[in-house]
Amino acid sequence: MRHNCNTLILGAGAAGMMCAANAGPSTLIIDHARAPGEKIRISGGGRCNFTNLGTTPANFISANPHFCKSALSRYTQWDFLDLIARHGIAWHEKTLGQLFCDDKATQIVTLLVKELRQSGADLWLSTHVSDISHDGSRFHATLDREGRRMTVSARNLVLATGGKSIPKMGATGMAYDIARQFGHQITETRPALVPLTFSDAPFTALSGTALPVRASCDGVSFDEAALFTHRGLSGPAILQISSYWREGQAITLDLDPNARLYDMLRQQRQTTGRRNITTDLGHYLPAKLVTHLAASLGLAGNLADHSDARLAEITGALRGWQMKPTGTEGYRTAEVTLGGIDTNGLSSKSMESNHMPGLYAIGEAVDVTGWLGGYNFQWAWSSGWAAGKAI
Ligand code: FDA
Repeated sequence: MRHNCNTLILGAGAAGMMCAANAGPSTLIIDHARAPGEKIRISGGGRCNFTNLGTTPANFISANPHFCKSALSRYTQWDFLDLIARHGIAWHEKTLGQLFCDDKATQIVTLLVKELRQSGADLWLSTHVSDISHDGSRFHATLDREGRRMTVSARNLVLATGGKSIPKMGATGMAYDIARQFGHQITETRPALVPLTFSDAPFTALSGTALPVRASCDGVSFDEAALFTHRGLSGPAILQISSYWREGQAITLDLDPNARLYDMLRQQRQTTGRRNITTDLGHYLPAKLVTHLAASLGLAGNLADHSDARLAEITGALRGWQMKPTGTEGYRTAEVTLGGIDTNGLSSKSMESNHMPGLYAIGEAVDVTGWLGGYNFQWAWSSGWAAGKAI
């Protein structure tokens, strides 16, 4: 069986569906999953953090930090908010500009499916791709659709199958393989927005303890919550810094990011100086954490016995706690994949290949990775829109 279309989009996730909604009629979008937009459905705890009010190119990591600028400026967070408003989806800002659906993340999936259907695109689910070729003018894809084998011929081919994170949800490296087949380079890929692990499990007794910190690595810092786990560290601050961490590097946790502890301990020394210093620190930091740190910081004796210099030493250590993770939880739990299809081979305006006309790459498959907080979906909308409009 044969099927002809103008555009074949591989992957009905956030970027692929946004592209299909803008690529005009004679567009076919396929996915091997049984439902479209599965990552949208589970995102943001089921409420989808669909964009960030403060999105700028500075919130993205790429070998070429300029690449994302064009698409992000032509389809912005405000454009996506207009789309949401047209579909009557209510939303709220949670924190740090992060926007979530009031109701369910599936509202975003429904919106995208409606939009792509209205623009005349066909959506085929449970469809597997086994072979892709190009005859000099058209792409040919061998597909298996619910057990039936067929060939699709298309003038344009859009790679929108995302990254490698969460293979259990159907993530594959297919976009990288096809890009390589057509002469594109792939930058190193690694799990990002992922918990960090320690081989000696030093925080088992602290598991479940959370507190606000400043996490730093490689000259970059994030002020958010950290969470101690059985295997290491998680929480937003850690997920953010994981995108900058490399094996062998240390990260630094500042447990007093607002620099208040020294003054507060000095004040407290006047009033409750006869209490053990661990009791006083326990008012500002989780008690379990104070117990964990007591030996290494030499915390002993009454607060009144501590000079200003000693208090400065203790609070200084709490502000610069260095530790060396041994690894990450990997693609099993990573929210995104860092790296991907090298942007050097793509047009930043259209996402089209520079040397293979008709080939496009969008979304997470491309070497553009956002911070935690709605930035990755905004990149999916912006890059998908840019490719769709160019087609
Ligand atoms: P996406 O992964 O969405 O879609 C790719 C599609 O291709 C999938 O439908 C997949 O089934 C299909 N596919 C893959 N291989 C295929 C193959 N070989 N054949 C056919 N189809 C194939 N971001 C954010 O901004 N806010 C948030 O709240 C969250 N939350 C979040 C939670 C969790 C648990 C995860 C794992 C991720 C997030 N993210 C996020 C990240 C966000 O989900 C991600 O960056 C985007 O979904 C990327 O969109 P894409 O369309 O590029 O890939």
